Amino acid sequence: MKVKNTSLVKLKYFDDYPDGNLVIAEEGKNIPFKIKRIYYITDLGNAKAIRGKHAHRKLEQVIFCVKGSFSLTLDDGKNKSLVKMNKPHVGVRIGKLVWLTMTDFSSDCAILVLAADFYDEADYIRNYQEFLNLVKKKKK
Ligand code: TYD
Repeated sequence: MKVKNTSLVKLKYFDDYPDGNLVIAEEGKNIPFKIKRIYYITDLGNAKAIRGKHAHRKLEQVIFCVKGSFSLTLDDGKNKSLVKMNKPHVGVRIGKLVWLTMTDFSSDCAILVLAADFYDEADYIRNYQEFLNLVKKKKK
């Protein structure tokens, strides 16, 4: 992917349609870090919701859309890319200093995130200008 510190993560799956779809994520195999935290987002009743709008100083995560769909915009301060998240077995690894925005949620959308560390508000960058300044500083 053209955005720095991001990549696609393709999981193994068994599509037994109409008897279900089984998807498997394994630490150290297709998830490139030790999973310390799992969180999920459901009940996206507001199609106009905008989530994310932040970057992380250090945190590594892999995000999946296990049901429905949404749009994920990735931005490393230089390049942007929009990923349509609609396949339960295809996730996106998001490393440090990637500004992410989530929009266009289907009402049945369910988002699963695997994270390499515990929640730490101090790791968040929630101001876009501060994010750009940090990216510039890291380049020097
Ligand atoms: P945030 O990460 O900003 O959500 P999103 O990027 O999906 O819009 O988190 C929303 C709120 O939830 C924020 O107040 C912090 C809190 N939160 C936790 O307490 N623990 C967690 O593991 C996460 C992900 C969020």
